[in-house]
Amino acid sequence: MSLDVYDKILMLAKRRGFIYPSYEIYGGVAGLFDYGPLGAQLKQNIENLWRSYFLLQDGCFEIHTPTMTPFEVLKASGHVDEFTDLTVDCPQCATSFKVEDITKDSRTLEEAIQADDMNCPTCGTKLINPHQVNLMFATKIGIGKTRDAFLRPETAQGIFTGFHLLYRYAREKLPFGVVQLGKGYRNEVSPRQGPLRMREFSMAEAEVFFDPSNKNHERFAFVEDNMLLLFDNEKEMKLSLKEAVEKKVIKNQALAYYMFLTQSFLLDAGVKPEKFRFRKHADDEMAHYAQECWDAELYSERFGWVECVGIADRSAYDLSSHINSSGTDMYALRRYDEPQLTKRKKIIPKMNVLGPLYMQKAGAIKEALENYVITDETDEITVEINNEPIVVSSESYEIKEVMEKEIGEKFVPHVIEPSFGIDRIIYMLLEHNYKEGIKNDEEYHLISFRPHVAPVKTGVFPLINDDKLTSVAKNIDFSLRMDGIYTVYDDAGTIGRRYARMDEIGTPYCITIDFDSLSDKKVTIRDRDTTEQKRIPIDSISTYLKDLLESKEKVRV
Ligand code: GLY
Repeated sequence: MSLDVYDKILMLAKRRGFIYPSYEIYGGVAGLFDYGPLGAQLKQNIENLWRSYFLLQDGCFEIHTPTMTPFEVLKASGHVDEFTDLTVDCPQCATSFKVEDITKDSRTLEEAIQADDMNCPTCGTKLINPHQVNLMFATKIGIGKTRDAFLRPETAQGIFTGFHLLYRYAREKLPFGVVQLGKGYRNEVSPRQGPLRMREFSMAEAEVFFDPSNKNHERFAFVEDNMLLLFDNEKEMKLSLKEAVEKKVIKNQALAYYMFLTQSFLLDAGVKPEKFRFRKHADDEMAHYAQECWDAELYSERFGWVECVGIADRSAYDLSSHINSSGTDMYALRRYDEPQLTKRKKIIPKMNVLGPLYMQKAGAIKEALENYVITDETDEITVEINNEPIVVSSESYEIKEVMEKEIGEKFVPHVIEPSFGIDRIIYMLLEHNYKEGIKNDEEYHLISFRPHVAPVKTGVFPLINDDKLTSVAKNIDFSLRMDGIYTVYDDAGTIGRRYARMDEIGTPYCITIDFDSLSDKKVTIRDRDTTEQKRIPIDSISTYLKDLLESKEKVRV
């Protein structure tokens, strides 16, 4: 059986401790993977590189919110009703399939029922029962009196539900961005694409809040001449950010700016430019919350173009839904130059009536009444408390006309969201940087990770297993680790074999300590890509390596 690059990478990834199926001793579970020692280190490096773009360069704030999410949050966000995949069943194999995987097009439920033309890819039996399935993992919080909940399908909702607090943290100024890196969960119908479709996966998401009247980015002018690789309606285009926005290929500066940040991060991480593109979503393909969406797609030999990042204009969708469902004031304020006096009708709740009438709901009703905007058409007042509409009787309040000083106009901010699938990116980095060949009659593999993302930065080898050499080598190894450089010490086998072991895991440098090192206090450092070797004084190895690791070249498209 001939193996393709995907099979080879998965074998290497398991053998060398990058990534492998979880719980294999009990048969494994489709869609669950472990990160081994090298994988965990690689993932940390990728996530920290991502932080350098979104926290340091773009100035976003990072938060952490729970993965367990109450029903109400995901009902309001639309996930309970909309986060579904159209599915069909095979009566013979007792397996379900995503209609999209079978037909390679997107169909509505009605179209799938009408067409009735799908066969099982495994046994050929006619597939039956097209139906929508929700992809969230349902759970309950608590014992006895429980609360319905889900494992979060995206980290974003934890950011939206804290918006009012984060807005205050941002000193009530827009735009500002909040990021979250962490696990997301989707009960995929039949995941057969290994690390490219996981049921528990790692996301890195940024939610950037804008005033809808100004979706410009303050750093746009600094980057507007850079090129973006775009693919829209079967057409490939290389446009500058400026051209893309002026020609309305991309809707606004903010979206274009975050596409550029995404492209820069991916290329910096080691994605090959010729295997990278942005593809615009068709209208019938967009998530329920999106107004415009571009995917950053990376090319895989087995699976073709795969979505690894989605960059969406979510408009006011999420905040408006949470304002309506929770009754919380999550508006932002567009300040007037001077405060304005406005005559307005105001509801004054009567707690002595509300209390006995509505008991423990009285406080929430009072707050809802105080925030209620009365118009000339208002005759009866209905407020919504925990999704329950309550008609409030007119003895419970009085309406007064008051002069109010207003300092600004309230509005719901819009959101631009770059959302990254970290596991998919990690697989693609392995594939894009994988090379193989024969060396000294043996199979040879190399992963040309860029030095700043490589899990191990340097191998440390004594030339032979001699006490004098091993003690110097171990001291060097220890001091490099203490300087924050992740090393692997190896004294087994020939130097050639040790180099090959390091090449296979993408280690960019190797240091060899030989007998001359004992007298001249120098070591040999070998570069993975050029195989060039240099003698370097022992006491400057650490600074020498750090300079190499930091002096990364920019990748251009
Ligand atoms: N937050 C983007 C997504 O769920 O795909």
